[in-house]
Amino acid sequence: MRIVIDNVEKKFIDNKKREVTALENINFTIEEQELVVLVGPSGCGKSTLLNIVGGLMSPSRGQVYFEGTEGKEPNLGIVFQEIALFPWRTVYENVIFGLEERGVSKKEREEKGQYYIDMVGLTGFENSYPKQLSGGMKQRAGIARALSVEPDLLLMDEPFSALDAQTRTLMQEELLTIWNRTRLSTLYVTHNIQEAVYLGDRVIVLSRRPGRIKEIIKIDLPKMGRDQEIYRDQFEQYSNEIWDLIRQDAQEALKEA
Ligand SMILES: Nc1ncnc2c1ncn2[C@@H]1O[C@H](COP(=O)(O)OP(=O)(O)OP(=O)(O)O)[C@@H](O)[C@H]1O
Ligand SMILES: [Mg+2]
Repeated sequence: MRIVIDNVEKKFIDNKKREVTALENINFTIEEQELVVLVGPSGCGKSTLLNIVGGLMSPSRGQVYFEGTEGKEPNLGIVFQEIALFPWRTVYENVIFGLEERGVSKKEREEKGQYYIDMVGLTGFENSYPKQLSGGMKQRAGIARALSVEPDLLLMDEPFSALDAQTRTLMQEELLTIWNRTRLSTLYVTHNIQEAVYLGDRVIVLSRRPGRIKEIIKIDLPKMGRDQEIYRDQFEQYSNEIWDLIRQDAQEALKEA
């Protein structure tokens, strides 16, 4: 499946009743089996764009279309920063939520639920409740829930930003392992440049006010293990290139915060 974001624009009305252009002239594609990362300073419109691609918000102009769905509604898996697990449901019950909604049979729910729980490393925690899980485990459960519907597109909005640095690094590694098994077309939002270079096939750098595409950078490094010593120089070059593009906008964002 190929996803085309065609000339998307989004205007909001702010609290002083002024029109604010959050996104303008957004054109890019997410190719089959591609992991595209959106990066940019706070307030540049990353979440807005992700929500538009996921159909949770409509654009003021332009459109998003999914090629090769043969008229069917695309299946989407979404992981947010603050994972909203149902507190009254166990890990297993949370993971199969989307399958229940889609009317999948009990047998298939059990098979798929277990398969994705195992994949994210939560085996043994099927009957735990969210309050019994660490932050990283909640994120895993949220990822399993998004994967369980076997989406045409996986959308992730800063899924690891609330985690401590070590857990975050581990989760990034695991996400790549999972991604390598599923090869889902993915749109991943972060403001962390290292993370963008580590995960992305392509990194889209957004500017601020209005959010426009500054540059699309192809990360020409092997998908797995690009943090190895031998790639250190290239990794740093990509990071610096992205930081140079973001620096000025980020400083402005800081002044306003
Ligand atoms: N519902 C809304 N009504 C009015 N303005 C909004 C609304 N949602 C977002 N905005 C504005 O649009 C701009 C982009 O917001 P958005 O949340 O997409 O940014 P972001 O890049 O995800 O930021 P962050 O990195 O802080 O999550 C901001 O200026 C924000 O104030
Ligand atoms: Mg956001």
